[in-house]
Amino acid sequence: MFAARQAFNFSQRRAFSASARQASKVTVLGASGGIGQPLSLLMKLNPRVTELALYDIRGGPGVAADISHINTKSKVKGYDPTPSGLREALTGAEIVLIPAGVPRKPGMTRDDLFNTNASIVRDLAKAAADACPDANLLVISNPVNSTVPICAEIYKSKGVYNPKRLFGVTTLDVVRASRFVSEIKGTDPADEQVTVVGGHSGVTIVPLLSQSNHPDIAGEQRDELVNRIQFGGDEVVKAKDGAGSATLSMAMAGARFAESLLKAAQGTKGVIEPTFVDSPLYKDKNCDFFASRVELGPNGVEKIHEIGKVNLYEEKLLDACVTDLAKNIRKGVDFVQANP
Ligand code: NAD
Ligand code: LMR
Repeated sequence: MFAARQAFNFSQRRAFSASARQASKVTVLGASGGIGQPLSLLMKLNPRVTELALYDIRGGPGVAADISHINTKSKVKGYDPTPSGLREALTGAEIVLIPAGVPRKPGMTRDDLFNTNASIVRDLAKAAADACPDANLLVISNPVNSTVPICAEIYKSKGVYNPKRLFGVTTLDVVRASRFVSEIKGTDPADEQVTVVGGHSGVTIVPLLSQSNHPDIAGEQRDELVNRIQFGGDEVVKAKDGAGSATLSMAMAGARFAESLLKAAQGTKGVIEPTFVDSPLYKDKNCDFFASRVELGPNGVEKIHEIGKVNLYEEKLLDACVTDLAKNIRKGVDFVQANP
């Protein structure tokens, strides 16, 4: 009994000292934006973060000065919008979050952002590939279905591509699904885990309600719920009426995903987050990237889970998903080939 307790205390101490020792620099690119500011705030509140680097083409140092007064231990620094500022912000990073780029206005699809955001993400990916090729790259900028393949192509062209370290952040779809289901069922959203697979736009967002706590949701109610999850982003864009898209809920979702990665890097086992990664699941349908439940570990992606059992309705959703997703992925790859 005593020996068992001693062994337990020892392993706990080891776990504690290992995580206490770990230095985790997190860099936010686009840190003064609608997402960037609350996301940076949440990362400042995360005790696992030891250093926070804030970069934007405008306002990075101001946001950093503000956040740096918060009395948590991490160091905060804002960087000038110069190539050397960007390089310094990235050097030594364990996690790079990219919410840089323009958001939608009513009537636009995420793909309508491609022309502006593709080159922004390409250039930031180039800087990250040079300065911190081993960091986890978390892409928030839309259209995620295309910006993630853009990053992959850039990393490949520089010979530093590691598919285990590149993530499209689709956490907001999962957060929304859990919230919307709980509203219907009158439950605590914390108890509702809904797997959402595919990509991050319209019909490429596929919630698997048959695998949730409520496979009974059916008929018109199911159709409405699936539609709300797929087009939850449009709900916010419409309500903001020209002032942008989801920022606060996205900051929460991005911070949750970053925390999961940090936790997994610091030794916690069994951390699973749905995310858009280089995946074998639908490569045969020309989708080299696919969001599904992914176990995270010290090396990034530890294990990509199978989709699991789906019903006929979900099979149809998946068919529609892969058709669009394959085109979105191709568009990202073609862009880098034409505009390296
Ligand atoms: P925003 O306009 O409020 O902020 C974007 C920030 O990026 C600005 O501060 C801008 O100065 C900065 N920026 C632009 N070019 C840059 C560059 N080259 N380097 C560094 N910073 C640069 O927009 P937002 O509301 O924060 O949204 C940002 C992006 O996130 C959009 O593309 C939006 O569609 C996307 N988004 C994704 C999700 C998701 O679930 N993945 C959710 C919400 C929004
Ligand atoms: C979202 O899902 O809220 C984001 O992708 C932003 C958008 O354009 O809808």
